[in-house]
Amino acid sequence: MFKVQGLRLRFSTRIRLFAFSFLLSAFCFLLPASCGEKKKDAAETNAISSVKEQQYYVHGEQLYLKHCSNCHQASGTGLGLLYPPLAKSDFIDKNFESVICLMRHGINGELIVNGKSFNKEMPGIPSLTDLEIAEIATYLYNTWGHQRDSVELKEVSAILDRCAE
Ligand code: HEC
Repeated sequence: MFKVQGLRLRFSTRIRLFAFSFLLSAFCFLLPASCGEKKKDAAETNAISSVKEQQYYVHGEQLYLKHCSNCHQASGTGLGLLYPPLAKSDFIDKNFESVICLMRHGINGELIVNGKSFNKEMPGIPSLTDLEIAEIATYLYNTWGHQRDSVELKEVSAILDRCAE
């Protein structure tokens, strides 16, 4: 009698353990962030962490689509040898100050982007505020493989004050 009961207990405990570990692995499979992979996940998506930066990013994307994408395209690929690419542009990686200035003041003369020569005037958009330029820069520098931790409004305003007209 005792023996049988003991066996039954052990058996049901085993079933419970099995069910529990099955549920746990199903849970981890569906929600890896709750099983110790959170850090890796966040690092992989992008470097944006604060709410303020996320707002900059979202507004920046809208402003980009409104003001820039008709030439540089929504996907940032540019257009042949007419409009240079912004996605994977080495110019963007190397020239933060020029990128800030050219949004307001435009740029002309020869530009080399990824080894290709471009030479067509880009008109500036003088109506963009310092904040809007910081937002577009946040979008540019956190998309398409460019990576810059954060773009501060103060820093952008200081650069805009220094831009050669
Ligand atoms: C009317 C078309 C047009 C619009 C609108 C435009 N650009 Fe440009 N952009 C150009 C051209 C043309 C060049 C190349 C300038 C040169 O050859 O000197 C350029 C160059 C650039 C460059 C430097 C080169 C590179 O590819 O990295 C950046 C960065 C850039 N534009 C960003 C922007 C952003 C951000 C906006 C929106 C705020 C914008 N552009 C709007 C036409 C445009």
